[in-house]
This record gives sequence, structure tokens and C-alpha cells, in this order.
Amino acid sequence: MLTIKTLIDMHATRLSFTGRVGLVPTMGYLHEGHLSLVRRAREECDHVVVSIFVNPTQFGPKEDLSKYPRDIDRDLSLLDPLGVDLVWMPMPEIMYPSAFQTWVDVETLTLRLEGVTRPGHFRGVTTVVAKLFNAVQPHKAYFGQKDAQQAAVIRQMRRDLSYPIEIVVCPIVREPDGLAMSSRNVYLDPQQRKAATVLYRSLSAAKEAYEDGVRDAETLRQIMKDVLAAEPLAEVQYVSCADYDTLEELDTVTGKALLSMAVFIGKTRLIDNVVLG
Ligand code: PAJ
Repeated sequence: MLTIKTLIDMHATRLSFTGRVGLVPTMGYLHEGHLSLVRRAREECDHVVVSIFVNPTQFGPKEDLSKYPRDIDRDLSLLDPLGVDLVWMPMPEIMYPSAFQTWVDVETLTLRLEGVTRPGHFRGVTTVVAKLFNAVQPHKAYFGQKDAQQAAVIRQMRRDLSYPIEIVVCPIVREPDGLAMSSRNVYLDPQQRKAATVLYRSLSAAKEAYEDGVRDAETLRQIMKDVLAAEPLAEVQYVSCADYDTLEELDTVTGKALLSMAVFIGKTRLIDNVVLG
């Protein structure tokens, strides 16, 4: 497994790859969620590239960039046995050279849900992912349904900028009690960790109601809010029942829909979602 930090080495190694190349973009501190994307890429591609870059431009001024968890040695030891060919760890000055001023910005889709409270977040994500696509030139790129809006925004960017790359979105990997795996779960103390199961419990309650025939979106949102309200440590930021592609809030669920939420447990902001239909 090669680890590469400069563009010259990245380009040279990319030229040596002959078959289909799969890219898994990450910010490191890897867990089973990330590794599920790597395994899928390994099954489907001849060469697997994993990028590790904690992207400063997708963190807001009050967010956790400086304390974002990092452990490169552990990450590399998790990736090596999975048959990864190359770990791309670009130096910050490659991704953001001095006087950097060119951005990729998906306009409308990024204003909803996460975009309301995290202005500029998706501009940081799409800019860095575009640069990862340019450096690695993969045939396929793998993203998690965990970040449902991110996946939708990347799909939109792919279409709008005509990237000849297939975007593969993989299912959410959860802990046995339902909590979606996330690098941020390490911030939770034991009591908060218990309380954090409320996200999946509330999504499951609404999904069950949908399966019992409820189609009124406000009723589904209320079911989620009621379950969340019963957990004293949970502070809800948003609860949504939206169209799967446009992420517009629905009145009635007719086609594919996304139930999603952002909830603070203490100072830790958690997101989760389930797909209906
Ligand atoms: P990061 O949070 O490290 O996540 C990397 C990828 O792993 C994302 O596509 C995310 O959706 C996926 N992922 C995280 N938890 C998951 C889980 N429990 N199940 C399945 N997939 C999961 O997302 C980012 O990094 C960044 O925004 C990035 C795309 C790398 C751009 O900087």
C-alpha cells in the first residue's frame, strides 16, 4: 500500500494504473462505515484509492476543525489488510495554495437541511471533492448514505460539471443499538452515548408509521419530534421529511423520500436519516 502526499507522485502512480480506479474520500479517523465503502470499492474496481484529508473549508468558524479526531497510523493499519492500493494524503498547500480563490458551489440543493445552519459547508465539500476527482481521476467514487445531502450534492456536481465518474452511495453502517457510526461519536460520554440512540429510534418510529400507511409528512415529522422530545439530553436542530432528490420539504409522501435530522447531544452534533419508498 502506497502513501502519497505530492501531486507529482499522485499523477505518476495514477498513470501506472491500468484498470478501473475507485476512490473513497475520507477525513480519516476511520470506522466500519468508512471501511464498508473501501470494501465495496475493492469488490468493484481494479485499483482502490482512499483519500485522507481533514478539509478545513467545510468546517464553520464555530465548528470542531482543531479538535477533529486524527490517527493516521491507526487509519493506515485498518486500510492495509483491505487491499487498498494507494492512500492519498495531500499536503494542505496542494489543496489550498496561497491566494486560493476558485470554488465549486452547488447552489440550491445546498441551502436546505444542513445548509441552513452550516452556510459554506457544502462549498467546502464540493471544492475539495472536485480537487480529489481531478487528482485521482477515478472511474467510480464511493460515498455514504450517512451524509445523505452530501451524496445528493455530489451527484448534482457530477451532472453539472460532466465528471465521467460513477457516484456509488453505500448504506449506513450502524452500531448494534442503531447509532449510525461517526467519527464524532468519540465525543460522547457514556450517558450521552446512550441518549444518542434516540435519533435512530425516532427515525424507526416514523418509518414504521410510513409502513403502516401514513403518508402525511407533518405527521411523520411529529412522530420523530415526539420521540426526540422524550430524551432530555437531545436538543433538536431540524427534523425533515423531504423529497429524496430535491430535498424540498413534502406535504405528502408519494415517491422516494428522506427522513432526516440533526440533533445535539451535549455539544456533539449528530445527523442521521432513513429512506422511504
Ligand atoms: P467523512 O466524514 O470522513 O466520511 C467519509 C465517507 O464515509 C462519507 O462518504 C460518509 O458519508 C461515509 N460514512 C461516514 N459514516 C458512515 C456510516 N456510518 N455508514 C456509511 N458511510 C459512512 O464525508 C466526509 O468525510 C467529507 O465531507 C469528504 C467527502 C471526505 C470531503 O471532505
